Amino acid sequence: MAGRAASIEPALMTPIPNQTSPVFSQPHLLGIEGLSVSDVLNLLTLAHNYVELSRHGEKKLSVLRGRTQINLFFEASTRTQSSFELAGKRLGADVMNMSVKSSSVSKGETLIDTAVTLNAMNPDLLVIRHASAGAAALLAQKVGCAVINAGDGAHEHPTQALLDALTIIRHKHRVEGLTVAICGDILHSRVARSNILLLQLLGASVRVVAPRPLLPAAIDRWGVQVFSRMEEGLKDCDIVMMLRLQLERMDGAFVPSVREYYRYFGLDEEKLAYAKPDALVMHPGPMNRGVEIASSVADGVQSVIREQVEMGVAVRMAVLDALARNRPVQAETPAPQGGEA
Ligand code: NCD
Repeated sequence: MAGRAASIEPALMTPIPNQTSPVFSQPHLLGIEGLSVSDVLNLLTLAHNYVELSRHGEKKLSVLRGRTQINLFFEASTRTQSSFELAGKRLGADVMNMSVKSSSVSKGETLIDTAVTLNAMNPDLLVIRHASAGAAALLAQKVGCAVINAGDGAHEHPTQALLDALTIIRHKHRVEGLTVAICGDILHSRVARSNILLLQLLGASVRVVAPRPLLPAAIDRWGVQVFSRMEEGLKDCDIVMMLRLQLERMDGAFVPSVREYYRYFGLDEEKLAYAKPDALVMHPGPMNRGVEIASSVADGVQSVIREQVEMGVAVRMAVLDALARNRPVQAETPAPQGGEA
């Protein structure tokens, strides 16, 4: 159950041939949409190798020595930003963190101007989080480096879905044939969207459980089963994935009250009992205890929430490594002189 994984899906046991051969067919990671199963399995295999290395081997590697990684975060983030930073540093990259407050963005510079300025410093990898859907894709057209989407509005959050898949595979040894219930604020969640795409690509059957106002209008076209009662949606499922109420993206009252929401949609032990006895409980964080999840469940034996954070570092190491493999190491160029603020 939620302890250490006993064995790993055979596909992930394949060692990565060497440190330079390409493992990913795309120049950027902008979303799960459009990825092939082999791209995904290669990233997960590489990530699995990095989990083992981080646990038992060298903490500091030189895979990205000489590479520059910029983390450009226009939205608040704790685990995503810090795990991208840690991932880059563990691989030996020079990592620079740009948050909105410390950049010219607070002086009115646009996303594209900021990106073009940063691009002039010749980074190899640019990690971006932005409140607008499509921001990472737009950036990828304007810069010469590999772009990684760390969350764009309610659109996609591909590394979260990859780390969730890795966590599931390490416990359940597969994704194919599993039933996964994603519960809560589906409407505003990029995590839900990326997870639905990835879990379906790997052969899971996906359910969503939410009050109607928290479901996208087009949910019928997402290929998921829709439930409005936790007891029905959780019945016999293998994975229960809880989502935060994204209050910052709501411009009105989507739920009558937090108390009522918890009563009907908060995951407590009683509702969890409808899932399989060995079902895993997941949450991307940050958690609102007592809103979408009870503390006893978040900290309970079925919870793999802390492990998700560990997988996050490994998955981000894999993504940075895979994208860097597709790019030649650049000659160093001096930073532009004068004029910059
Ligand atoms: C998620 C996000 O930012 O989309 N968090 C995360 O990356 N760990 C989910 C959320 O904010 O609720």
